[in-house]
Amino acid sequence: MRTDTGRVVHLADYRPTDFVLERVDLTFELDPEDTKIESRLIFHRREGADPQAPLVLDGDELTLSGLLFDQIEMDADRYTATASSLTIRDLPAAEPFEVTVTTIINPTANTKLMGLFRSNGIYCTQCEAEGFRRITYFPDRPDVLAVYTVNIIADKEANPLLLSNGNFLGGAGYGDGKHFAAWFDPHPKPSYLFALVAGDLGLVEDTFTTVSGREVALKIYVEHGKEPRAAYAMDALKRSMKWDEEVFGREYDLDIFMVVAVSDFNMGAMENKGLNIFNDKYVLADPETATDQDYAYIEAIIAHEYFHNWTGNRITCRDWFQLCLKEGLTVFRDHEFSADQRSRAVKRIAEVRHLRSEQFPEDSGPLAHPVRPTKYREINNFYTTTVYEKGSEVTRMIATLLGRDGFKKGMDLYFDRHDGDAATVEDFVKCFEDANSVDLAQFSLWYNQAGTPQVTVSSAYDEKASTFTLSLEQVVAATPGQPTKEPMVIPLSFSLLSDDGTVLTPSSVEGGKVAGDVLQLVERSQTFVFQGIASRPVLSLNRGFSAPITLHYPQSKDDLAHIARHDSDLFSRWQAVTDLALPALTAAARNAASGAAVESDDALADVVVAIAADESLEPAFRAQVLALSSEADIARELGSNNDPDAIHAGRQTVLASIAAHGEQTFKTLFDTLNAAGSAYSPDAAGAGRRALRNSALLYLTFVEKSPARAAEAFAKADNMTDLSQALSILAHQFPDAEETRAALASFETRFADNALVMDKWFQIQATIPGDMALDRVNALLANPHFKGENPNRVRSLIGSFAFANPTGFNRKDGAAYDLLASQVLDIDGRNPQLAARLLTAMRSWRLLEPMRADKARNALMRIESAETLSVDVRDIIERMLQ
Ligand code: PHE
Ligand code: ZN
Repeated sequence: MRTDTGRVVHLADYRPTDFVLERVDLTFELDPEDTKIESRLIFHRREGADPQAPLVLDGDELTLSGLLFDQIEMDADRYTATASSLTIRDLPAAEPFEVTVTTIINPTANTKLMGLFRSNGIYCTQCEAEGFRRITYFPDRPDVLAVYTVNIIADKEANPLLLSNGNFLGGAGYGDGKHFAAWFDPHPKPSYLFALVAGDLGLVEDTFTTVSGREVALKIYVEHGKEPRAAYAMDALKRSMKWDEEVFGREYDLDIFMVVAVSDFNMGAMENKGLNIFNDKYVLADPETATDQDYAYIEAIIAHEYFHNWTGNRITCRDWFQLCLKEGLTVFRDHEFSADQRSRAVKRIAEVRHLRSEQFPEDSGPLAHPVRPTKYREINNFYTTTVYEKGSEVTRMIATLLGRDGFKKGMDLYFDRHDGDAATVEDFVKCFEDANSVDLAQFSLWYNQAGTPQVTVSSAYDEKASTFTLSLEQVVAATPGQPTKEPMVIPLSFSLLSDDGTVLTPSSVEGGKVAGDVLQLVERSQTFVFQGIASRPVLSLNRGFSAPITLHYPQSKDDLAHIARHDSDLFSRWQAVTDLALPALTAAARNAASGAAVESDDALADVVVAIAADESLEPAFRAQVLALSSEADIARELGSNNDPDAIHAGRQTVLASIAAHGEQTFKTLFDTLNAAGSAYSPDAAGAGRRALRNSALLYLTFVEKSPARAAEAFAKADNMTDLSQALSILAHQFPDAEETRAALASFETRFADNALVMDKWFQIQATIPGDMALDRVNALLANPHFKGENPNRVRSLIGSFAFANPTGFNRKDGAAYDLLASQVLDIDGRNPQLAARLLTAMRSWRLLEPMRADKARNALMRIESAETLSVDVRDIIERMLQ
């Protein structure tokens, strides 16, 4: 078999289609193995287009079974059909014409989960980015917008439910045990937003009344028997709808909004117009089976997909290079929503942690790409944290630079000007420029230049002159295809804290632009002089993480402790503690590597324990402080030539020394946060208390050196958060204890029938630190509960092992790299998108110490030399080895 190496698509080659699509009429005759699709398309040639140009439709693994031109069978010499395209020649120069395409596909055999597939007996579709072409030949690109009518015919008993986008037109019996339903979506949309669902599902219903008084029917479909677990998603949906009206002035635009949960899904969820399809992991929750983190994800993803109705659907993307236009913006919107629903500061800390651990490594490795890339070989590989999370940060910086009102003016203009359009990043930025009379040309480098800016800072105070001088320098390292970089616009929120913690306000600032508490670094190096500063200030910089950069500002321990105590921005307080702790963690790693004893840092322990005990701080914040930097964070701080075992060992000793120091505090927290008697509630406050209590539990196990307390917590837990935390502590701290074996076995028996909970069971075991993890993972691969065709299960075992078990995965002998390589090759045969994503776990392989890096390279080269590879995996592997 030949390996398709894929064609590289360039942004610069964009041009509009030669034909305009006016209408789409689809008829699906559903059958598990032989689904027939008849697609009637009405086109006309675009004004000014080449009158000779043929119509070229996209396909993917298709065979043509019929083709009509204006209802009459088309002459064979007028068209050419291959698996990946249908070309039709001799078409009218101006007048509209109709093309009717018939294809027959096999949804059951569709293991790629793109196009029309079956999940647990349910027919469902996934069309973003290029899945529609796996259903029928079509101009499958986001700038082709049309109005769709959809007819669905299927066996009535097996598929009482027949759903598609838009409003329900009607249905009836169809004879032969079949029935049909018709749907009409009045909003022009690109094919990637098409959806169809058929099958037998349970329903949870509610309604929402919009600001203008229209009643919208809300329907969430889940497997029968799971209806009670959809209540939280429904609640989150109603809150999202209200929030988007209040904060962004966006009202829903159809009479019905549906969410369908399926168990086999490559991604989190999909924003199909009026018919969102979700990975059931992000819909189903109850206290017994979902953790607080699960609830938070459900809230965020329900909101995210709903928000796409305006940012993505009403205004879509001109081409896939503009993906951040909908994704970065919509992530920003869901972040803001969650911040309003929960604790803003804690939410921000979690976002930044995630950005640093996922996006920063991407941005500094072989897969680095701009937020708006300029070329791709496989678009599926560009649904990245750079496009999503850094894209969101770029939107946030616009809001920071323009202020709340300026940002709102720009957004309103964007909705006004581009409603119904397939827009570009330039269109978006222009709205903020026009609404605020500002020039964002230099700022736009954030969309076009890859790499995390490194900002180095030094400062000096002149008591006589009462001036504080701040020198800043920015560098963006080279990234693939971008050897040199221009200086960016970096908005830095700052605060000058006096000795007693009050804020010092300068009488004037020279050297650059400062608006309120935000200064703009725009040159490669720039010096700001703050006048009228009566006493030596402590500078808190990049407050709230106003710019997604790495800051190098050597501040004394005292200054950091001062910020940790006094900054009014809780994020900055957390950052200051993190900056205090990081040198201790890196020193511990170095000492562990060289065999030297790790000295305990009492000053650090004092600060951490004091925060843990500080009742004036919300528990979720205290838990974030106690979590310390992850092993990946420490590795990043150390740079290259990393030894994961030393990092792990060093971090454990720091945890142990804090534990010893704060034993009494942790005991008190563990006992008093035991919220006895109060019923479980997934709200942020309850989640925060559980998080703090469970971190206290972890620290206590360091002091007690016994699994007893965690085993007792496991036995007493009355919710999945506490249960899974206790199980993690047992498994990760005491992998060989009898208590751990017993807890894993009881968990398995109790939840054997619940796939989402069993995912946790796999994940906890896949992340047990140390050399033995590999054997365990191999054993789990052979466990009857392991289902290689279910993406959630694959991610919970193989994904967790490769992404989240630094010591286990980076075994010295390289055997775990080999396991990943074998799994990637195996999975690639059925689900390339999933395989490619797993492979990215090795994107930072060059930073490993030479022995491990060598082993990693061998494993990667084995993948590269495989006889058949998908375009998805080939694209990633070649970039990683470049
Ligand atoms: N557009 C989806 C989202 O972010 C993600 C997605 C992409 C889902 C591709 C499936 C396939 O909301
Ligand atoms: Zn999205």
